[in-house]
Amino acid sequence: MATNRTLTMIKPDAYADGHTGEILQIIQRAGFKIVALKLTQLSAEKAGEFYAVHKEKPFYGDLCKYMSSGPIVAAILEKENAVADFRELIGATNPADSTTGTIRNLFAKSLEANAVHGSDSDENAKIEGDFHFADDEQF
Ligand code: RTP
Ligand code: MG
Repeated sequence: MATNRTLTMIKPDAYADGHTGEILQIIQRAGFKIVALKLTQLSAEKAGEFYAVHKEKPFYGDLCKYMSSGPIVAAILEKENAVADFRELIGATNPADSTTGTIRNLFAKSLEANAVHGSDSDENAKIEGDFHFADDEQF
């Protein structure tokens, strides 16, 4: 089961701009089933924990500030080949490089404010799913 799941977050800019409904619709139409969903807000500390893999990067401080700047929507998504298929659906990290019609191409404002997160491996999908939903017994 875990290998067929990925974790997404609708980032603060996309939530604040009212794109949550449209983004969830695109995700569902692409064949992903939403198996967990919540509106939440990360503290800077929790954002830092989530993106700890980037802590040596020059953009880490800004990323933590940005990801804790407002509400986000976190979701666990299920589909065959979920991690890779979702990365394809969201498009390149930098929206300037993203394929037309991808979620980042449609909604990202910048390299940092790029609308959505997607797990980059099955292992991280499990870790990130637990990060947001471990307290919810049914997941
Ligand atoms: P994500 O983890 O959010 O799905 O994004 P990603 O895999 O496509 O990109 P990653 O390299 O993991 O970077 C995480 C997030 O950090 C911000 N970023 N800023 N200013 C910069 O050079 C820079 N590079 C990355 C973006 O918000 C990126 O999604
Ligand atoms: Mg990443």
